[in-house]
Amino acid sequence: MKKLHVNVSVNKNNYEFLCNPDETLLDVLRNDLSLTGTKEGCSTGDCGACSVILDEKLVCSCLVLAAEVDGSSIETIEGMAEENKLHILQEKFLEHAALQCGICTPGILVAAKALLEKNKNPTEKEVRYWLAGNLCRCTGYDKIIRAVLDAALEMRKKNGSNYA
Ligand code: FES
Ligand code: FES
Repeated sequence: MKKLHVNVSVNKNNYEFLCNPDETLLDVLRNDLSLTGTKEGCSTGDCGACSVILDEKLVCSCLVLAAEVDGSSIETIEGMAEENKLHILQEKFLEHAALQCGICTPGILVAAKALLEKNKNPTEKEVRYWLAGNLCRCTGYDKIIRAVLDAALEMRKKNGSNYA
């Protein structure tokens, strides 16, 4: 099978790779770019463990062909912390104990970041609706929702916006 040549920016770093036409973005991230923070749960678009931000849109990387991302910009969980400073969402997940395993958590964090970039002051209902595609098998949902709402509040305070 003829390999395809792809150039992409991942977490602001440029990568180029060769892939088969039927290879998924998830497989390339994990197997070729060694970005194993993005997890594989179902491979069918049902669990959200493989969530990444592709050109500012939240996607399941198991449903995206690697060849499709040529020229795109991708954010994965590895790009969330800056240098040695955790993202506020990561800090709040720790503070609220909103995580138990390493499978669903990266996808939930990436999805929550995508939400807060669109909506700085989401209601609890909006957070629950947005994260409905991210399954947590140990049902930590209440803590996860609380952590996201608390992170949103903290980010609004930091940015000096009206957070009342
Ligand atoms: Fe992609 Fe489950 S692995 S949605
Ligand atoms: Fe990962 Fe619940 S914390 S499945």
